[in-house]
Amino acid sequence: MSREQALADHIFGLPQHQLEAVRGHPAKVCELIEQFSAQHLLTITSPQRAAAVVVHLKAQYKKNPPKVMLELGGYIGYSAILFSHQLAPDSYAQYYSFESNKEHAKIARQLVDLAGLTNRIEIVDGKASNSLQSLGNKVARLSYVAPAFVYLDHGKELFIPDLRVLETLNLIAPGTVVVAANSYAGGVPEYVRYVRGTPAERREYNYDVRNVSGKIMPGRWNMLYESKGIELDDEGLEITRCIDYLNG
Ligand SMILES: C[S@@+](CC[C@H](N)C(=O)[O-])C[C@H]1O[C@@H](n2cnc3c(N)ncnc32)[C@H](O)[C@@H]1O
Repeated sequence: MSREQALADHIFGLPQHQLEAVRGHPAKVCELIEQFSAQHLLTITSPQRAAAVVVHLKAQYKKNPPKVMLELGGYIGYSAILFSHQLAPDSYAQYYSFESNKEHAKIARQLVDLAGLTNRIEIVDGKASNSLQSLGNKVARLSYVAPAFVYLDHGKELFIPDLRVLETLNLIAPGTVVVAANSYAGGVPEYVRYVRGTPAERREYNYDVRNVSGKIMPGRWNMLYESKGIELDDEGLEITRCIDYLNG
């Protein structure tokens, strides 16, 4: 049995009164996941990295909380449950979590339901690059607001390709903050170079390197980004803010 299924069995096998005590309480559901992970090493965002993201989100969106948040690599729903707390209170504010592994996605839905967040978090099955196109159309229909937050946590080799997909689909716009989990072995130097590069460097890259996430998804080299790294104990985050488009 997978660790993830063992987590689900553990949580949903709790005595009824314990399960009812956490139902509808996102923080308590996250706590249960963290406790299980401490012994069974789930690949969730570490509590230290999660706290750094939350601090950043709070500071960034104090006056204008996000209406659309995206996550590439939802796993069992831990980061979605944690970060979606920052969504605006509007009824249409949504956190979209893309997850390619069906078992993970199923468990994520069960945990999101336990946390009482089914109407706030949508778990989208399949490879993120395949699902983003329909999300782009859907977001456009809902009086277009670009995602305020994008969390890249699916695999370092996909960070640049899928960021290029997001750029091409206009899912990155001035104000969007992209947080990349820089916790993979060897870090994510190529991605860091891409987001910290000049528009001219990105134009060259996008021209020279075919996008493995979609031939017709070259990216938008004319985005202006401000990007910085945050070092934590044994891992880090790259936080990139789209500040404008380069004109001309
Ligand atoms: C490190 S885990 C994500 C952890 C999660 N963000 C959390 O903190 O709870 C990476 C997840 O990305 C998923 N994944 C890998 N490639 C993907 C892709 N192309 N699209 C969507 N999900 C993907 C994996 O199945 C795995 O569940």
